[in-house]
Amino acid sequence: MANPKVALVTGSNKGIGLAVVRALCKEFAGHVYLTSRDVGRGTAAVENLKAEGLKPSFHQLEITDSESVRAARDYFQEYYGGVDVLVNNAAIAFKMADTTPFGNQAEVTLKTNFFATRDMCNVFLPIIKPGGRVVNISSGLGSTALSKCSPELQARFRSDDITEEELVALMERFVKEAQEGVHKERGWPSTAYGVSKTGLTVLSRIHARRLRQGRPQDDILLNACCPGWVRTDMTGPNATKSPEEGAITPVYLALLPPGEKEPHGQFVSEKAVQPW
Ligand SMILES: NC(=O)c1ccc[n+]([C@@H]2O[C@H](COP(=O)([O-])OP(=O)(O)OC[C@H]3O[C@@H](n4cnc5c(N)ncnc54)[C@H](OP(=O)(O)O)[C@@H]3O)[C@@H](O)[C@H]2O)c1
Repeated sequence: MANPKVALVTGSNKGIGLAVVRALCKEFAGHVYLTSRDVGRGTAAVENLKAEGLKPSFHQLEITDSESVRAARDYFQEYYGGVDVLVNNAAIAFKMADTTPFGNQAEVTLKTNFFATRDMCNVFLPIIKPGGRVVNISSGLGSTALSKCSPELQARFRSDDITEEELVALMERFVKEAQEGVHKERGWPSTAYGVSKTGLTVLSRIHARRLRQGRPQDDILLNACCPGWVRTDMTGPNATKSPEEGAITPVYLALLPPGEKEPHGQFVSEKAVQPW
């Protein structure tokens, strides 16, 4: 018997990730995994969805813990023969009022939003099944941060020949220069969250290119997106969208119909490809 289809969403015990799981439970023809770094918070969220009549499953997943990432990869490989839909949603953001020194904010933010998400991609991309969909939840603030980088940095981030190694070196350089207090004079904007999401959007473009070159027959579509400004613990109550509204674009990308060739390697907002 063929393996059932399976979708998994990182950091989905609350916020936009939880809303994506809720929508996938209704619209995706397969098993849907709510994942959380904390088993208690994750299983509580699963129970709440079950009380709504939905049937999500649960797996622990802490994206900064390589053992947790590999254990999850092995589980999905063993029980499902891979993954059909991966939504990389987990991320962090320091609050505006936080007084943590900028260099520390840069290190901590990039660790989760860029480096750990990159690990997730590199561990899971090989087991994404033919016809699979990968959605990296980035942010419009990554585009804003890009526009505030030096012309030299912008040219590299927009180029079609930037490699993952070069991107990683640039993200490491940002953290180092933020810690040394010289990031502004070296061409970076003063937003750790923004730069982390610039990096994630560029990483998505690189990985999409690699999939087209390495697995051209597999019709996998991988995109980055912005959910909009959404009322969650990350942003607070003043944002304009509900989590359900924020889930619309990620879910659209996760459920792009079989046979579609586009969008791929794009940054998508409000279901529309945005210029990069
Ligand atoms: N809200 C917005 O307006 C907005 C706008 C643009 C982009 N985004 C992006 O949308 C995504 C979801 O954000 P949100 O607003 O829903 O934020 P949120 O309510 O703060 O939820 C973030 C989720 O990520 C999880 N997480 C954080 N670090 C993790 C790790 N190392 N491993 C596993 N899970 C981890 C959190 O788990 P815990 O509960 O354990 O902390 C939580 O479940 C993020 O990528 C964010 O950058 C949000």
